[in-house]
Amino acid sequence: MINIVLFGPPGSGKGTQAQFLIEKYNLKQISTGDLFRYNIKNNTELGVLAKSYIDKGELVPDQVTIDMLIDELKKPTTTEGFIFDGFPRTATQTKALEKIVAEVLNQPISICLSLIVEDQLLVERLLKRGETSGRTDDSNKEIIANRIQEYYSKTAEVAELYKQQGKYVEVIGVGEIEEISQKLFAEIDKIK
Ligand code: C5P
Ligand code: MG
Repeated sequence: MINIVLFGPPGSGKGTQAQFLIEKYNLKQISTGDLFRYNIKNNTELGVLAKSYIDKGELVPDQVTIDMLIDELKKPTTTEGFIFDGFPRTATQTKALEKIVAEVLNQPISICLSLIVEDQLLVERLLKRGETSGRTDDSNKEIIANRIQEYYSKTAEVAELYKQQGKYVEVIGVGEIEEISQKLFAEIDKIK
């Protein structure tokens, strides 16, 4: 099994790259952002709660997100591993993920692949995506700025934890999409 944490600020290309990785390595993608949006669309209790944070560009409280992730991870799957896209986003979530994969999958996290993109380009990409995504958090400059701010204040420390474990690898997330995929494949093939 390979269990990948796909890491990076909003707009760094996690969701885009996850699509290539799931196909190549037969993985299941768990995107906490997508799960929240699914709940919002279906107007569930969880969706209503998550929306109150997402619409401001803030993080949903740890325990809410962690419980949702556990439910998803327990679903049966025939894949040969997982990609965690947009999770963990805090130190607490990072420690919880380690415990959950050990308990549920009897496996460790294999690698944390971190996509590096400068802020200016992130903002441009998110605004562009907002033209078609219908995501309220992509269409407003202040919300985008807040999401990037949340990334630096709460999420960047996730990288430190994976660095300490020797599992942290940076990949430049600027250039042709396929080129970036190739760089990610190369990093995964090193640990396979
Ligand atoms: O990962 P994505 O960019 O799709 O997440 C969209 C929003 O969902 C985040 O800006 C945040 O409000 C919320 N989220 C969260 N905690 C996570 C993942 C997403 O609060 N672990
Ligand atoms: Mg995403």
